[in-house]
Amino acid sequence: MKRIYWIVLLLTSQLAVKAQDSLITDIGARKTTSLNGKWQYIVDPYETGFYDYRYKELNEKNPDAFWNTDVQKDRTEKKEHGYIDKYSIEVPGDWNHQKPEFTYYEGTIWYKKSFDCQPVQGNRYFIYFGAVNYRADVYLNGKKLGMHKGGFTPFNFEIPAGLLKEKGNFLVVKVDNKRYSDEVPTLNTDWWNYGGITRNVCLVELPQSFIQDFVLQLKRPLAGKAPGASPDAYGWVKINNPQAGETITVEIPELKLKKQFTSTGQTTALNLKLSKLQLWSTETPKLYKVIVSTKNNRVEDQIGFRTIEALGKQVLLNGKPVFMRGISIHGEIPQEVRRAYSQADAMQLLTQARNLGCNMVRLAHYPHDEAITRLADSLGVLVWSEIPVYWTINFGSSEVLNKAKAQLAEMIYRDHNRASIIIWSVGNETPISQTRTNFMHSLITEAKRLDNTRMVSAALEVNYASGKNLNLIDDPLGEFVDLVAFNEYLGWYGGTPDMCRKTNWGTPYNKPLFISETGAGAKGGFHADSLTRFSEEYQEWYYKEQVAMLKRMPDNFVGISPWVLADFRSPKRNNPIYQEGWNRKGVYDDKGNKKKAFYILQAYYEQMKQLHDHPKRK
Ligand code: GCU
Repeated sequence: MKRIYWIVLLLTSQLAVKAQDSLITDIGARKTTSLNGKWQYIVDPYETGFYDYRYKELNEKNPDAFWNTDVQKDRTEKKEHGYIDKYSIEVPGDWNHQKPEFTYYEGTIWYKKSFDCQPVQGNRYFIYFGAVNYRADVYLNGKKLGMHKGGFTPFNFEIPAGLLKEKGNFLVVKVDNKRYSDEVPTLNTDWWNYGGITRNVCLVELPQSFIQDFVLQLKRPLAGKAPGASPDAYGWVKINNPQAGETITVEIPELKLKKQFTSTGQTTALNLKLSKLQLWSTETPKLYKVIVSTKNNRVEDQIGFRTIEALGKQVLLNGKPVFMRGISIHGEIPQEVRRAYSQADAMQLLTQARNLGCNMVRLAHYPHDEAITRLADSLGVLVWSEIPVYWTINFGSSEVLNKAKAQLAEMIYRDHNRASIIIWSVGNETPISQTRTNFMHSLITEAKRLDNTRMVSAALEVNYASGKNLNLIDDPLGEFVDLVAFNEYLGWYGGTPDMCRKTNWGTPYNKPLFISETGAGAKGGFHADSLTRFSEEYQEWYYKEQVAMLKRMPDNFVGISPWVLADFRSPKRNNPIYQEGWNRKGVYDDKGNKKKAFYILQAYYEQMKQLHDHPKRK
């Protein structure tokens, strides 16, 4: 009996396709029915709808399970759960900002949506989620479709044939945002643990065999050469349920390009010569319609073609050195105290960054919604995209590494056609140890395996004890990243801003050097002398000293993304006068007002733009 058990376990584990491998990308180009809007909910902190009183997971058919119907068979039947409009919540959107009792809630909330549809015989149907924080258990008409962990990346589950009904489909999602030490992120973060179905949800209809994903990018140039007027583009098409030998057509109408490939199975390699190409850049963010089609399916995307690489002391965009005038951004709309998820939210955040003079944003500390990376493509803003391997992750666990790899894959699959994204970051401020360096190196290797056209980085640790007034970034992980990035808070965490005057920075790695965070707190509208913490004047002084120090950076200094665009919510920030649950390091306050420091950074970026975009002028 035991032997059979192990064989079954082995088979199911091998058969169990990892969620990220079944991800359907470019969802906006698919035939979808939105499931956004009002959902009914049940708050379930004791997970009564999932476990019995002996804390055993309820059998799928158990009428007490919250994924099964809440309608009594007859008036004698016991029902201790139910979904009614009185308890409704908006999707997409975190629950914290929707009900005062949910502000700090960490636990399970059951979401339920009933919908009708006209299933077409022979087509396949999926439920797609832009993101759910943190764990989602998804059920349809009493059947479990799947479970996903990871609060900031998309996933989808196929609906078994025959399960969809024309009327009253009963879709239930158990969302649990509790924090755990062996999850990604772990227990301790400096941001609000917004829970819920935080991004779009839709029903996707596809033929039996369909284009699940495709990527088409310019390969990195060799040793810094510009891509040239007729560069080669490479990539692949992934077909779900491929038909042997079928023809795959790739078209770029504006380039009068149409090329056919014969399917070689699930994944077919692509290579095309793009003549008369206008490269994507921050000045000219040119996008092309790319159409990929087979006999039964067609997908199109808007793709910008550019190259990016770290070479010696420089970062080269299309073979030309680029200086990144960045800002770090959380995925939050502070004036409404909620997660960002929409086109309008993306426009607000990127407009604020561009008002500052930025040509780059660091989307911290997790993959942001697809609207902002697509908008960055259109506006010509460079992007650093990151998975939440943050602080004290359980680096010794192979399971945790697999969870991080799953989120890394979902981030890369979703956005590998986004020209704006130039950096995949595998983490932030992870404490140095051999176990951690092995874990992070494994993530860097995986990122490069999934996408060798972009730089890979992470916010590294600083060696402050390296020598007289010289702070070194000699983190062992620096050996494996393309861009050596680090966070420093000279004059905020320890000392006062005048410390910048005698501080120098360096790295033993012959690679570009980037400051991924620096910043000080200020409560918007609080004014005092510049020595008074949390005054706008202190923050202004901080930036003045930092900017003066930046002018003495070594020649491999390629940019900075100060911390942070706007004040954001954090349960760790408890000064009852100046913070009240807000991290106040924004150069905008939580109402969208510019603080005095904004203008110091803006002036520095104007100088850098003149210096780097018009190098002749001195
Ligand atoms: C750290 C961390 C941020 C945090 C910031 C701060 O560097 O990366 O997530 O918010 O410092 O202390 O404000």
